[in-house]
Amino acid sequence: MKCIFLGPPGAGKGTLAVKAVDILGAPHISTGAIFRSAIAAKSPLGLKVKAIIDAGKLVDDGTTIALVRERLGQEDALKGYILDGFPRTIPQAEALSSFAEVDKVFNFDIPDAAVLQRLSGRRVCRSCGANYHVLFQKPKIDGACDTCNGELYTREDDKEGAIVKRLEVYRAQTAPLIEYYRAKGLLVDVDARPRVDDVVANFRTALQK
Ligand code: AP5
Repeated sequence: MKCIFLGPPGAGKGTLAVKAVDILGAPHISTGAIFRSAIAAKSPLGLKVKAIIDAGKLVDDGTTIALVRERLGQEDALKGYILDGFPRTIPQAEALSSFAEVDKVFNFDIPDAAVLQRLSGRRVCRSCGANYHVLFQKPKIDGACDTCNGELYTREDDKEGAIVKRLEVYRAQTAPLIEYYRAKGLLVDVDARPRVDDVVANFRTALQK
């Protein structure tokens, strides 16, 4: 399946995508994760996007579209993919339709209050990028990743000012994609409010729609 995970920051897209990789047998392609790896590596792309991402703004469409186009051309993405965090603007969606197919768009439905709670408590592994939460997904050892023992940190864009900015940007630039894809008959809503196992069950139900 070639699908998109659409939804506000902190809706749980990345958390579900990790599980959906096994369910769908398709790679998880997160533009946010690609940018964070580039920042960690201090590559030219990372140096270009760091300040933008830390402030909760969007990277320009040209840079992001070129990155996704190149990634979708790789062997593992030829039969299917889970696009997480792309497209995020109407021009990105239009560009995507010119070089790739989309079978379904899963829209993560969740109120702002839950988003704020999830983002402010998120911790991320510095080595492998796994997500944790101080209340909802605690690591076995405080401050260390269960999988690779890497250090857990708070993303710069999970600090209060950046969260507010990200939600503003989401409403202005990304939320219009809900109606854009609904009009194409591709959108399926997923109730993202419950705990992770129940969101997985909601996703399995959404797959049948
Ligand atoms: P990106 O990394 O895509 O950030 P995002 O969309 O804001 O999404 P998040 O990663 O914040 O949240 P998520 O929905 O994946 O939630 P998660 O599963 O982690 O992008 C970062 C930045 O990169 C952007 O701001 C932008 O600057 C740039 N960028 C990326 N793509 C771009 C594009 N296309 N164009 C331009 N710029 C782009 O969960 C959140 C927390 O909640 C975790 O702690 C988790 O443990 C917890 N949690 C998850 N599910 C549940 C649950 N069901 N119950 C309780 N807790 C839960």
